[in-house]
Amino acid sequence: MTPDVFGIELVLLVPQMDREHREMINHAQSLRAAVTGGGMPRDEVQLLLKKLIDSVKNHFASEEELMLSSGYHGCTAHRKEHKRLLDQVYLVEKELPLGTIQVGGALACFVEVWMRQHILGPDKQFALFLNEAARHGVVKAKATVAGRFRS
Ligand SMILES: [Fe+2]
Ligand SMILES: [Fe+2]
Repeated sequence: MTPDVFGIELVLLVPQMDREHREMINHAQSLRAAVTGGGMPRDEVQLLLKKLIDSVKNHFASEEELMLSSGYHGCTAHRKEHKRLLDQVYLVEKELPLGTIQVGGALACFVEVWMRQHILGPDKQFALFLNEAARHGVVKAKATVAGRFRS
């Protein structure tokens, strides 16, 4: 089992986002460790890759739903960023059955680096919006943050 590598600097104080970010980064780390360590059977590596890909897809979908339901003004640009990463992920997903296991390791590194930059950039902006809206009692965001995502 790989240690939890989710740093405090990545905590955005939106529990749903923090939980999913932690999960994605931990999946990426596990995959990278498996590939660089060697010796893990190919089907197990593929399973780790699938977990990583699923966690990325699920997280983007839930974050985008949160952006829409909270009326976030930066939603369109943020979704474009998500799409850029997903395009890379789909490429690797297609190649993996034909290619080498290293392609999974490369994706894991890429996702780790990309996620850190993305969390500290667009995700942090969105989290500030949510937390600010909740603080000022903006009904839509307050209902979303306090009611659904902080339970
Ligand atoms: Fe995001
Ligand atoms: Fe995110």
